[in-house]
Formats: sequence, structure tokens, C-alpha cells
Amino acid sequence: PMMDDWAGRKSIEKKLTELLGIKSVKVVSGNSDTDQTTKNSLGMEAANQFASEIGNGKVVAVTGGSTIASIPPFIEKSNDTKDVLFIAARGGVGKEIGSQANVIAASFAEKCEGKYSTFYYPDTLSEEAHEAFRKEPTVLEMLQLYETTDCVLHGIGNAQRMAAMRNASDNEQKVLQGEGAKGEAFGYYFNRAGKVVHRLRTVGIKMEHLQRIPLIISVAGGQSKAEAILSYMASAPKQTMLVTDEGAANEMLNLQ
Ligand code: G3H
Repeated sequence: PMMDDWAGRKSIEKKLTELLGIKSVKVVSGNSDTDQTTKNSLGMEAANQFASEIGNGKVVAVTGGSTIASIPPFIEKSNDTKDVLFIAARGGVGKEIGSQANVIAASFAEKCEGKYSTFYYPDTLSEEAHEAFRKEPTVLEMLQLYETTDCVLHGIGNAQRMAAMRNASDNEQKVLQGEGAKGEAFGYYFNRAGKVVHRLRTVGIKMEHLQRIPLIISVAGGQSKAEAILSYMASAPKQTMLVTDEGAANEMLNLQ
């Protein structure tokens, strides 16, 4: 049965890589919706991919969320990662401290014996405040780093769930629903066709930046995220490498 499992996952990986039109798909066993050990497997697999692909990359941007937070425990220090600078893929001051991008960037830096730089930017600024704040020197410095980012490690969220978690207004939630928002990443919301239907008022990695970032590792699993992953992947950069689990992978194939 072990061998069948493995062969089964290999065949799913091949199908999904073709379906999503990205560089690679890695499927770990289990369903992280219901099983914490599966989330750890996602973290371990993503850590391995990161270690083997980072090469001489120097600036690594990471997003928040429990999935990306599961990666650092599995990072082994290597000479390759000593000079790496870890940053948050967008400014943020999330609620749950353990899964904030800034905190995760610091954990990566600690495991790699690299450096990190924090970037705090509230999600809740008024338009006027945002216009003023985004011209601050510390923000401009971060924008410079986003221009030279070599690698992005990011999670993908379920659009409705993310909006609720961020205390989006009833109106905002209705708009997202009306627009058919399914997935979320980097503060962008995507419909099933991969079109951006909404973006948080934030400062961070932009879709334009992503296109020319050589190493992009997306990490998301759980059956409940299948549609969110499909929506993000519908317009994801071709160099994207996805690490997912059987729960999400089987459901993605079912939904086709
Ligand atoms: O943007 C996506 C979310 O941050 C993913 O969060 O990994 O806890 O599901 P999660």
C-alpha cells in the first residue's frame, strides 16, 4: 500500500502540474483540514524545496498564516542561506502574533542564521492616511526590497474566510461575494478565473513584481482550500511551485 500511495501521489502531481500550468506540484499525504501532522508535512516539504532551490538568492519574502508558519521548524541551516534577508511579503499587524508575516520572517532568519527586517503597516488605514503613510522613508525602503526580491514563500486563503478573519465590513464581504472571490494571497482576492477582484489597502509584493521573481513557492493544503488554490493558480506566474496535500489535490481534480 505504501508504494501505491506514492505512485498515486506522483500521478496526481503530474496531472495537477499540467492542469495548473505551473512549474511543479508536490503532494504530501493527508488532509490538513483535519490533521495537524499533514500541515507539518506541508511545512517539511516546503522547507526542503526552499533549501534546494534558493541557490544564491538573497532577499526572501514570506506571507503570514499557519501554513507558512509551519515551515521554519523544518529548515536546516546551510551555508547557502547565511546571507539571506527575510522580509514580510506585505506590511501587516495581524491579530494572531504567531502567524504574522513579520514573526515568520524572524523565525526563518533564526533557523537560517540569516537576517530579517520587520515591516509594520496597518490594514485599516483610511485612504488619506494610506496616501500619506506610503510615502514614509521606511515604506519606500521596503518597496525597494520588493523590487529586488529573489524568492517568495506564500500561503493561499479561502476568500470568504480571510475577509471574515480581517473583519471586513458587511459591504466589503458582499462585494467579494458578488465578484465571486474565491482565493486570497498577498492581500489580493481572486475569482475563479484568476482575475483580481479586490485588493486590501496595503503595501507589499505586487502581482507585477511576482512575474519576474525566479523562485515562488506556494504552500496550501486542505480540501476546503481547493477552490481557493484553483482561483489563485488560474493566473499564477508560470515559475510557481505548489506544495499541497491530498485533501486539496483530489478536490481540485474533482472540481475540474
Ligand atoms: O493568505 C493566506 C492565508 O494567510 C493562509 O492562512 O495558512 O493559516 O490557512 P493559513
